[in-house]
Amino acid sequence: ETVEWNAEETGKGQYDHYMLKEIDEQPDSLANTLSGRITDDGDVSLEEFPPGTFEDVDEVQFVACGTSYHAALYGVQALENAGVRARATIASEYQTPTVDENTLAVAVTQSGETADTLSALRAAEAAGAETVAVTNVVGSSAAREADHALYIRAGPEIGVAATKTFSSQVATLTMLSHRLADDLEQGTPREDAAEFFSELEKLPEYVEQTLKTSNAKAVSERYLDKGSYFFIGRDNEYPVALEGALKFKEITYEHAEGFASGELKHGPLALVTPNAAVFALFTGRRGEGTRKNAEEAHTRGANVIGVATHGTDVGGFADATLRVPETHPDIAGLLANVQLQLVSYHTANMLEREIDKPRNLAKSVTVE
Ligand code: G6P
Repeated sequence: ETVEWNAEETGKGQYDHYMLKEIDEQPDSLANTLSGRITDDGDVSLEEFPPGTFEDVDEVQFVACGTSYHAALYGVQALENAGVRARATIASEYQTPTVDENTLAVAVTQSGETADTLSALRAAEAAGAETVAVTNVVGSSAAREADHALYIRAGPEIGVAATKTFSSQVATLTMLSHRLADDLEQGTPREDAAEFFSELEKLPEYVEQTLKTSNAKAVSERYLDKGSYFFIGRDNEYPVALEGALKFKEITYEHAEGFASGELKHGPLALVTPNAAVFALFTGRRGEGTRKNAEEAHTRGANVIGVATHGTDVGGFADATLRVPETHPDIAGLLANVQLQLVSYHTANMLEREIDKPRNLAKSVTVE
């Protein structure tokens, strides 16, 4: 008797989809990302970058695509909060970069093979910048071509929609940013470093709790028939809003958009009707500021789903709530993101979409 199987199928174990397996793997993949990189006194120690590596850097330019671009936005925020000049550019728009030998160009790419990102990396190198590849794949093109490689150590990701690698990219960039702020003359490393990094070390635990107690399936079921899905947030929750919407459109094929909360009133509000569901991120440093924007959406008849830390009052206007454990505000968005990953997954599953291989999309896009 012959038993037919293929490696991919067996690799899913008890799971119907790689995506859910990879979402569930995040406590382990994050622990792996952080392992050995945070010292007992709450500092960062990166084997790849001993203190002093970046002394000459005066500006950081991230280049990336898709989910990796959203992670790069987190990096910008962390660096700017530490007084370091930083920006992120969508790799395909990084055409004539203004760089010099004091610029550090950081390519963020899970696969290390994305054509747009490689071409931006090459443009930065050609213009004289020092380069780093933040990637998941050892020996990938980006890792080989950049001056330095920093691995996110998330383990293989099969689902086309990136999940665990986003969390690991953000964790890695948080550590890299601290290392940079420490090295650079203009940098002011965070004063609450000991507290922050001890919370970062507990992130795997918090993700585990988030996964265990998530009501994302019930929430997804409730809003299955909406015409549009919006995601809003400020500060670090802005990239989470973008990522929440990207995941949602990738795998559910429903109309989804992410906005900075403050931008809602500058256009997108025209699309907010009773036919819309608005996921409002109340976590983070500026979560409070998203309240009035969520209220505006509620007033126009949209269903508001608040994503908030346990114990935070989300106000009477939220129709449903997705809760996350309390942690440092600068990483709370990552927990909110786990809830949004689950919402996308369950919605797509109920709509019977091709979750692991969405139409028209590829895991790694090797053409420009
Ligand atoms: C593709 C994938 C996305 C991914 C993007 C960047 O579009 O479908 O999920 O975020 O490429 O990939 P990279 O490997 O460079 O992070």
